Amino acid sequence: MVSGPSAPRSQLDALSDAIRALTTEISIERVLRRLAEISAHLVNARYAALGVPSEMGGLAQFYTYGMTERQVARMDHLPVGHGLLRELLRVTNPIRLEDLRQDPRSAGFCAAHPTMTSFLGVPIISKGVHLGSLYLCDRLNNQPFSDEDERLVTMLAGHAAVAIENARLNEQLRKLAIIEERDRIAMELHDGIIQQIFSVGIRLDITRRTQNPPDEIAEQLKNAASELNRVIEDLRMYIRDLNRGVDYAVTLGDQFREVFEGFRSVSSSRLVSDIQPGLTHLTEDKVHVLVQLTREMLSNIARHARASEVYVELVDNGHSTELTISDNGIGFNPATVQRGRGLDNMTSRVGRLGGTLTIDSSPGHGATLRADIPHTSPPTSAHTPPAGETNGG
Ligand SMILES: Nc1ncnc2c1ncn2[C@@H]1O[C@H](COP(=O)(O)OP(=O)(O)OP(=O)(O)O)[C@@H](O)[C@H]1O
Ligand SMILES: [Mg+2]
Repeated sequence: MVSGPSAPRSQLDALSDAIRALTTEISIERVLRRLAEISAHLVNARYAALGVPSEMGGLAQFYTYGMTERQVARMDHLPVGHGLLRELLRVTNPIRLEDLRQDPRSAGFCAAHPTMTSFLGVPIISKGVHLGSLYLCDRLNNQPFSDEDERLVTMLAGHAAVAIENARLNEQLRKLAIIEERDRIAMELHDGIIQQIFSVGIRLDITRRTQNPPDEIAEQLKNAASELNRVIEDLRMYIRDLNRGVDYAVTLGDQFREVFEGFRSVSSSRLVSDIQPGLTHLTEDKVHVLVQLTREMLSNIARHARASEVYVELVDNGHSTELTISDNGIGFNPATVQRGRGLDNMTSRVGRLGGTLTIDSSPGHGATLRADIPHTSPPTSAHTPPAGETNGG
C-alpha cells in the first residue's frame, strides 16, 4: 500500500511500495491512473497528472490526481498538450520550476484551472520513445520540489515505462487469446458437435424407416429429427457470428474516435465526422487500412492544410466501404507535389485490398480524399494500382 503524504516513512520505502503497486497492475488504464496517484504521494504533491502522447503529437489521454470532480468539470477543456506539457513530450530530462506561472512555457491554462505554483515534470521514456509524462504541482509544505524529489520521480518514471510496456503487451496477448479461443470454439462446434448431432438425427431416421414403428411413434421420431436439424441451423448461425468480426465492429468506432481526439488535440480546425453505425462485417484488415488512411490524412491536414473545416465520412453501400475526408485548406497539386511517404502508403494500402484511392485537390481549393474498398478480396496476387490512380482530378 502507498502511504499518505503525511506518513512518517522514508521516501525510499515509499518508492519501493510504489513500484510494487505498479508492477502488479495488468490493465494499462489502471497503471496510468495509479501512476499519477502514486507519484503525488511519493513527493507530497497536491496535484499530479499523467499525459500520454497521441501519434499526432498532442495528448491522447490525461489522468489527474488531487483535483475534485467539480474542479475538473469547471474547466472548459482538458489540456491540449501545449506549452510545458508539449515540452515534456519532447525533452528527455525533468523540468523543475519554483513558480510555474513565471515560466513562459506555462501557456494554455484555462481560466478555471486551480492556481498551481511549484512544478516538477518528468518524461516517461522507453527505448527512446516517449510513453508519457508525469506532472507534479504544489508541494504540500509550500516548498519547491527538491533534488531528492526529482531523483525519486525519475526513478519511478523508469519503472513506470516498464510497467506501461508490460501492460500493453498483456492487453495484446489477451486480445489474441480471445480471437484464438473463438476460432477454437467455432472449429469444435463445427467439426465435433454438429457432426455428432447430425449422426443422431440420421440414426433416428434409419430407425423410423427400418423398424416400422406405430404411426404415433414414427411421427415423434420424425419431429425429433427436424428438431435436431433446427439445432444444427442455430449452431451454424452462431459459428458465423463467432467468425464474423464482432470485435472489429466495436473497435472500429473506438479507433476512429481515438484518431479524431488526436487530431483535435493538435489542430484548431473544426472536425465533423459521420461514421455509419453498425459496420459489423468489415474484416480486421479493412478496419486497419481505413483507420490508417484517416490517421495519415488528418495528420497531413494538421501539418500542411491550414484548414478551418474538416469532414470525415465512412459509409457502406452494400458492395464496398467508402471513406471520404475533405478539408477547406490551401490545397495542393497531387501530380507535382513533392511526396513524402504518406500519399504513396495510402495508395498501396488501398490497392492491396483491391480498392481505389483518389485525391482531388488544387492550390487554393482544399483537398478531398476518397477511398473505395470492395467487400470481396482481390484475386490471389496483391494488386497495386498504377500511380495515376492518385490524381489531381
Ligand atoms: N490536405 C492537404 N492540404 C495541403 N497539402 C497537402 C495535404 N495533404 C498533403 N499535402 C501536400 O502533399 C505533400 C505530400 O504528402 P505526404 O503525406 O506524401 O508527405 P508528408 O506529409 O510531407 O510527409 P510524411 O512522409 O511524413 O507523411 C505534403 O508535403 C503536402 O505538401
Ligand atoms: Mg504525410
